[in-house]
Amino acid sequence: MINTPPIKAGVVGWPISHSLSPRLHGYWLKKYHIDGTYDPYAVKPEDLGSFIKTLAEKNITGLNLTVPHKEIILPFLDHVDDIARKIGAVNTVTCHDGRLSGTNTDGYGFLTNLKEMAPNWSATAGPAMIIGAGGAARAAMVSLLDVGVPEIKLVNRTRSRAENLAEIYGDLPITVCDWQGLSENLSGLSLLVNTTVLGMTGQLPLDIDLSELSSSAVVYDIVYNPLETDLLKSAKANGNITVDGLGMLLYQAVPAFKIWYGQRPEVDHALREYMIAGLGV
Ligand code: ATR
Repeated sequence: MINTPPIKAGVVGWPISHSLSPRLHGYWLKKYHIDGTYDPYAVKPEDLGSFIKTLAEKNITGLNLTVPHKEIILPFLDHVDDIARKIGAVNTVTCHDGRLSGTNTDGYGFLTNLKEMAPNWSATAGPAMIIGAGGAARAAMVSLLDVGVPEIKLVNRTRSRAENLAEIYGDLPITVCDWQGLSENLSGLSLLVNTTVLGMTGQLPLDIDLSELSSSAVVYDIVYNPLETDLLKSAKANGNITVDGLGMLLYQAVPAFKIWYGQRPEVDHALREYMIAGLGV
């Protein structure tokens, strides 16, 4: 019998102690009786390049990237696939025969969660508004346009960042709206998405007057701690279907786990409950 070493993977960030990825992958490793590990790595942005070069010698097959590494990793990779290029960020790296390839599964996680929690939402029903202009906003924007959303209305506290995105994605139907006039741009939307940190535990709430938003629109907050943000509470009171951010975290991990450990893991109620217990909510 040939003895194969355990498959090693992990997540790199700065800081990293709050990452829920070790809990998530650890759950699946145990569930599927896989001989593997998944560890957190605290690496400063300036040390990312030298850390990446040690993956092969450390026998690490896979790496997730979290804040602030998703964009600065790009020049250190041998191959970056189309979706990661389009989003401009990498959250999943695979090391194979010393070659490093990067992809981005955040858009997949974003969309799969939306389809599961709001199965009747139709991409072509109307424009979507995205609040925020960071990496999460780009993943949401690219995946929504890919499935046929006719227009993205982009709103960001710092308007110039939203304008910059509209310019980068110049050939795509993106309209930049004012942060101040946000509530007046809600009519006709089929989807409203928060990708900012507002609403997260310890942050200010995202306070929007939803009275202009049709009750048939879906409201999606990618924040998952707390699961029900003030935005989602207001949306429920307005009659909207709501989607929280936990499923995005769970589903973005599915393709990575499959690539590294060879098993497509399931996202189910038991996993959701286990992860909620880890949030301490
Ligand atoms: P990520 O890659 O996770 O999306 P990011 O690039 O740091 O993170 O982006 C964070 C987003 O949250 C930005 O859109 C940011 O707005 P600015 O571009 O104006 O900074 C938004 N954000 C953070 N704190 C905010 C606040 N207090 N009010 C409004 N928006 C905020």
